[in-house]
Amino acid sequence: MLKVAVLVSGRGSNLQALIDVCAKDDFPAEIVTVISNVPDVFALERAAKAGIATSVVNHKNYPDRQSFETELQVAIGDSGAELVCLAGFMRILTDGFVNQWRDRLVNIHPSLLPSFKGVHVHEQALEAGVKVSGCTVHFVVPDLDSGPIIAQETVPVLQDDDADALAARILEAEHRCYPEALRLIAEGRVVVTGNKTVIQTALA
Ligand code: GAR
Repeated sequence: MLKVAVLVSGRGSNLQALIDVCAKDDFPAEIVTVISNVPDVFALERAAKAGIATSVVNHKNYPDRQSFETELQVAIGDSGAELVCLAGFMRILTDGFVNQWRDRLVNIHPSLLPSFKGVHVHEQALEAGVKVSGCTVHFVVPDLDSGPIIAQETVPVLQDDDADALAARILEAEHRCYPEALRLIAEGRVVVTGNKTVIQTALA
């Protein structure tokens, strides 16, 4: 079983998708801790309800990113996690942190990367007039919203979409894509080569 730490900042619907898939028989990963940088978020309730250990490392309590991340590393290290999944974690991590977790730090982003990085992602997609958008699960590298792509799922952009409608459609795709990506990683089938991944075929 691959031990996973999930880092959150908010409502935690992607966390819930990961909790649900990990509860299935024979799923090859388990969530050993959920860590939030924001106190009292709904994601923490979801984790507690599932019997998962939680902790809060509130970035506001630390004078700089370095000391915040040192505490984050302690919390992750204490859990024994081998993989860190960002699930709506809204803090940018320093190069030092990212490099320490190279190829073991995963993020989900609500666009088809490399299009529409950063914030206001759905507004960017609508502004660009794209006919499809979607979500991307990728390994985290120091450059924001870059890094080897593990899985993507597309959704249509409809004529009368506003940002909320598009976000809701993409979120449903996220809830399929992230569990599937975690399965592939936990099965040892994701091989990073440069800035790409190769997904190895499942053994019969
Ligand atoms: C999700 O749409 C996720 O892709 C996005 O925040 C939302 C979190 O929702 N993450 C980012 O934009 C990261 N750059 P959730 O808390 O319900 O999972």
